[in-house]
Amino acid sequence: MLQKMLIKGGVPLRGAIPISGAKNLALPSIAAALLTDQKLTLNNIPNLVDVNSAIELLNYLGVEINWASRHSLILSTNTLKTTEAPYDFVRKMRASILVLGPLTARFKKASVSLPGGCAIGARGVDLHIKALQQLGAEVELENGYIKTSAPAGLFGCDISFPFSTMTGTENTLMAAALAKGTTKLINAAMEPEVVELANLLNKMGAKIEGQGTPVITIEGVDSLHGATFDMMPDRIEAGTYAIAAAATNGEVILKNCRRDHLSSFFETMSLAGVTHEETEEGVLVKRKSDIMPVDVQTMQYPGFPTDLQAQFTTLMTICKGAASITENIFENRFMHAPELVRMGANIAIHGKTAVITGVNALKGAQVMATDLRASVSLIIAGLVAEGETAVNRLYHLDRGYENLEEKLTNCGANIKRVSVD
Ligand code: EPZ
Repeated sequence: MLQKMLIKGGVPLRGAIPISGAKNLALPSIAAALLTDQKLTLNNIPNLVDVNSAIELLNYLGVEINWASRHSLILSTNTLKTTEAPYDFVRKMRASILVLGPLTARFKKASVSLPGGCAIGARGVDLHIKALQQLGAEVELENGYIKTSAPAGLFGCDISFPFSTMTGTENTLMAAALAKGTTKLINAAMEPEVVELANLLNKMGAKIEGQGTPVITIEGVDSLHGATFDMMPDRIEAGTYAIAAAATNGEVILKNCRRDHLSSFFETMSLAGVTHEETEEGVLVKRKSDIMPVDVQTMQYPGFPTDLQAQFTTLMTICKGAASITENIFENRFMHAPELVRMGANIAIHGKTAVITGVNALKGAQVMATDLRASVSLIIAGLVAEGETAVNRLYHLDRGYENLEEKLTNCGANIKRVSVD
């Protein structure tokens, strides 16, 4: 059943928003259950479509998974039914590629469908494949599947990534954890989710050092044991609501937000005239002036996150001046721009750069979500716009935002989800 969100704009958000567990840590953590035959308990798991997709895939593989409570998962991988991750699962969620490393490392073979394209860009997985080959796996691409085999197991080595890849680093980390010998990942991704995945693996008995720096060293072990681990709060969700608070000229406390995961982002927000302050309850975000124009380049961590680019674009549509936003990570991540223009924004795209000239007000309209972060940038625009906005294709939104309308309604927003007849 298709649904849309109806939003009546103009209400400043006031209140507190609890930040859920990090989607992009939950996905690799669930895949890590494949690395051990013992129980893995994961807490603060967000209830999201993408998390359910990951659970469905692991269930299909033969992993036993139960919800111990609303946000706690218990997973056990004694024996598997199959080491094949079919196209139907992988096309729904490209992060399914994260089972490739663990299956190859523990079960010595895997057959994972190539993810295929994605709205925001080609999103290749060539670096994942090359890293596994360097660790000693035979890899064949056959009928749209990545087939790996490592009958003698994997062997540690130095792996240099030509550029930083988040899930590429995560896949390789998990594979190297069970390899014979030591692996060094050079030019490794440094995102907090990668650091936390390494910390989870260490809790399971892995020997990993250097996470959060460009060089991660993994001393392989024979096996990993069970563990209990809490997901960190979702830094992209927190940044999203910080932008919504600023855009609506409200005052919002982000509960259990890790400010240190968002330092580059909050620095940019300060330049835009938005303050953030650590309080007992969480990080208090509010405007100190009009929204000022700030030029942004999206970069790998610790730079400005590409996953907050669409949301920040919305903020700049009402700035006092003109700002440029350059998307350096993905080739096609401005699909929200034409939709914002339909709401009265003034945005011109030149290659990788969007030039946004601030307008006095956005006007409500029917708009179309195209991908996860674009969908929430349109919700924020609706919260700001005069009149009513309808955001269609909400399935994009539900992949990554838990209880969004409840969290916004609790801060005074006039927002409701309706079925599209
Ligand atoms: C992760 O995607 C996140 N997803 C993305 O979040 C995030 O935008 C991205 O990292 C930021 O880098 C998860 O963690 C599940 P990459 P990932 O490998 O790992 C190219 C969201 O909204 N590349 O870091 O797929 C790739 O095409 C999502 O929550 C190759 O060419 O991203 C991209 O242009 C969206 N070959 C760039 O590198 C490879 O083998 C960065 O990709 C790997 C990557």
